Amino acid sequence: MGVSVSYTDKQKGLTRRQFLTYALGGTGAFMAVAAVGPLIPFAVDPLTRGTTETFSTVGTESEFNTSYPLAKDFTLKQKDGWIQVDNTYTAFIIKQQDGTYLAMSNICTHLGCAVSQQLGSDGKPTAFSNGIWFQCPCHGSQFSLTGVQTPVSPAQRPLDIFLTKVDSTGQVLVGSKKHQRTV
Ligand code: FES
Repeated sequence: MGVSVSYTDKQKGLTRRQFLTYALGGTGAFMAVAAVGPLIPFAVDPLTRGTTETFSTVGTESEFNTSYPLAKDFTLKQKDGWIQVDNTYTAFIIKQQDGTYLAMSNICTHLGCAVSQQLGSDGKPTAFSNGIWFQCPCHGSQFSLTGVQTPVSPAQRPLDIFLTKVDSTGQVLVGSKKHQRTV
């Protein structure tokens, strides 16, 4: 048996079909908000937290000099949304003439092998040959004292660098992600 709606009913307001449609739609919308609403802060939270990364102390100023780079391992805490991880890096750190520090990543900019440096008989880093301070064992890229690739190297850009700073007590700190540079 069908539902008959008189002209008078329509004039009065909702039809039964319209009422049911609105009622079901409203109930569905309410249930959706009730189910999803509490999750919204969790979804948005990582965006508002952003990414933070700390600095790590690698030594005192007196350890470093402008003659050769020292290899230093350090750990940076990285917080990405809810995830916090400790990333360990190695950098070759040398003091520059202007008193700032250059912290070069040990990761070759060709395909990502670890480059090495050579130690002399006195235990201090020394050049492999004329102007070559870092070599990559994988495909032979070579880099200068400041991490610039030689023209014949497969690597097409200098070693990436980390941010550096010196605190008020003379501690050298390295931090933030690696940055590409152009030389
Ligand atoms: S990865 Fe270093 S030369 Fe290829």
